[in-house]
Amino acid sequence: MSFSDGVRSGMAGLAVLMLAACGQSGPATVEAPAEPAPVETPVPEPAAFAPTAADFKCIRDMHAVRGFYVDNLLGYLEETVAVAESETGGVYPPGSVVQLVPGEVMVKRQPGFNAATKDWEFFELDVTAEGAAIRVRGADEVVNQFGGNCLACHEKAKPEFDLICEQTHGCDPIPLTPVMVKAIQNTDPRCAPVENLPADQLEALAALQAFREATTAN
Ligand code: HEC
Repeated sequence: MSFSDGVRSGMAGLAVLMLAACGQSGPATVEAPAEPAPVETPVPEPAAFAPTAADFKCIRDMHAVRGFYVDNLLGYLEETVAVAESETGGVYPPGSVVQLVPGEVMVKRQPGFNAATKDWEFFELDVTAEGAAIRVRGADEVVNQFGGNCLACHEKAKPEFDLICEQTHGCDPIPLTPVMVKAIQNTDPRCAPVENLPADQLEALAALQAFREATTAN
């Protein structure tokens, strides 16, 4: 337990006292079986805030969790990481930024931003060595460059995962293999180049390039 602010210290302190009491007196208590519950990471409700293109940086400078990256624009990185790392899910705190590839982002806005998207804002970015430009942003209406509505896919995630798909939360899959994703992350033009990409990632990039040429040629 390493909560840094004082918001939950009352609860945490109470829990510690109860544990201490159990440990020091009386017969051993039988622990109730742990119910797998989504993690709760309440943070103070923020004032309205609106991310700008300057908030989106080299994907590999974000915090890596399994295959994706997270950050928090309001200083609640610890709470964001706790939800991302939880196997039972949870509600991401406001300010959370989630990315799998440089060009697509989800940002958790302030409560009340949009009920249908659970307050997530979806972004599609154009990224170059100079930085990110926002191509589209918004809530349930945002469609990516392949014609897919972000929410239509992401809302299939099991409710405890707060619209985060990964590979096992119930969303329809995307046509990118984990090696392709890794290769795309490693060639984010905003980051310092990765020297000597492994052969499987080079092959993945070549396959993506061929796919792009085939789909733009017709
Ligand atoms: C065809 C369905 C589909 C569409 C359309 C789609 N996504 Fe996703 N998205 C997925 C799946 C599935 C994953 C998980 C892929 C993986 O981990 O291999 C994912 C992953 C992500 C992630 C990483 C966190 C997570 O949920 O695993 C972000 C962020 C994201 N998508 C944003 C977007 C945005 C923004 C849009 C629209 C501009 C969008 N997506 C459109 C299906 C989709």
